[in-house]
Amino acid sequence: MNRFTTGLLTAAAFAVCALPGWSKSQAPNAQAIYSKSCAGCHGAKLQGAIGPPLTHIGKKRSAAWIDEKIENPKKTKPNTLMPPASVLKLNNGEVKALAAFLSHKK
Ligand code: HEC
Repeated sequence: MNRFTTGLLTAAAFAVCALPGWSKSQAPNAQAIYSKSCAGCHGAKLQGAIGPPLTHIGKKRSAAWIDEKIENPKKTKPNTLMPPASVLKLNNGEVKALAAFLSHKK
C-alpha cells in the first residue's frame, strides 16, 4: 500500500466516524434514504417543515415505535399527511435503518 492509498483510507475512516450519531452496523445508508424519502416533509436537517422536527425524536420514541410509524403512519394519526413505507417504496431493511438512525437523534 503506498502513502496515497493509506492517506485515502485514513480520510475515509475519519469521515465515517465524524458523522454524529451514525453507526455503520445500525444504519448503513439511513441518511441517504432519509434525504430521498423524508427530508421533503421533515427538513434536510430534521428541523421540520410540513412534518414535525425529528432532531430529538429518539428522546421520546423507540426504534420500534418509529419503525411502526414509517410502516403505518395512520396507526397513530388516522388523518396524517405522512405516506406509508409502501407508498414511499421503502423495503423492510430501509425502514429498519431509518428507525435505528432516528432513534439515535436525542
Ligand atoms: C408528505 C409529508 C411527509 C413525508 C414524506 C414523511 N412524513 Fe413523517 N410526518 C409527517 C407529518 C405531517 C407528521 C405529523 C403527523 C403524524 O404524526 O403523522 C409526521 C410524523 C412523523 C413522525 C412522528 C413524529 C413525532 O413527533 O411523533 C415520525 C417519526 C416521522 N414522521 C418519520 C418520517 C420518516 C422516517 C419519513 C421518511 C420515510 C417520513 N416521516 C416521511 C409528514 C411526512
